[in-house]
Amino acid sequence: MIIVSGSSSRNLADDLAQRLNLEHVRATSRKFPDGECYVRIEKETIDEEVIIVQNSYPNDMLVELFLLQDAARNLGAKKIINVIPYFGYARQDKTFLKGEAISARVMVKHLDLEADKIITVDIHTPKIIEWFGKATAIDVHAAECIGKYFINDGIDLVLAPDQGASGRAKAVASVLGSTWDHLLKTRLSGTEVRITPSNVEAGGKKVLIVDDIISTGGTIEAATRELRRLGAKAVYVACTHGLFISGALERLKKSCDKIVATNTIEGEVSMISVAPAIAAAFQ
Ligand code: R5P
Repeated sequence: MIIVSGSSSRNLADDLAQRLNLEHVRATSRKFPDGECYVRIEKETIDEEVIIVQNSYPNDMLVELFLLQDAARNLGAKKIINVIPYFGYARQDKTFLKGEAISARVMVKHLDLEADKIITVDIHTPKIIEWFGKATAIDVHAAECIGKYFINDGIDLVLAPDQGASGRAKAVASVLGSTWDHLLKTRLSGTEVRITPSNVEAGGKKVLIVDDIISTGGTIEAATRELRRLGAKAVYVACTHGLFISGALERLKKSCDKIVATNTIEGEVSMISVAPAIAAAFQ
């Protein structure tokens, strides 16, 4: 088995290769002058199974992923295992208005054509995993890696911004041996959320908010405001997928005491590696 990384996931692939004791080939990736993607896996042949580590977000990374699947097949790969740390387009899993596409289903259909196995990390809508037909698919979780990262930080309370995310808060809290709870969130628009004033006991506590995605940062900003109102001593924030669009990271750095993400999306604060969780799926 070898590991091939695309340009979204070089560090994570390095870490994974070390843990699994496998060769890591960094695929060449560049753009033509017109913006089209080009990839090349510099090997004579691949006469084994290949693990391709590459996100399906943003759009260029998605195209790169499809090209890497094809390049690996062309070199003779026996089996293609796609590790997709951040699975893009997972949020539209149904039509909300007549005439829309079901984006998540489109992604699944096309990835399924070449993949034999798919591994995702904290996919936004877990039921999507069941839509793969040919490929076997599993979703692994970042909670243990996140919990271990904060093990020496004296966290008193782990908090989910909404009820739907409370399983993640509970899993992180069980690693830390702390209590957990959730706030109540209502989404008002793409960028605005309202956190309902709650009776969470945060006074004088060091609180860690955990979420799967930070996109515009609206959710975390509102949650942080509520925790300050409740008298929290410190507000730490961790997410699996740090998209941080429209200057969200700079804004959140001002409102939280500490903010980190995992390396499903590699960036300035992606301090937590999810390689242990992915490696476990190969054991
Ligand atoms: C929502 O279902 C997700 O779990 C996140 O809470 C959401 O994607 C965060 O988005 P934003 O940072 O834009 O508030």
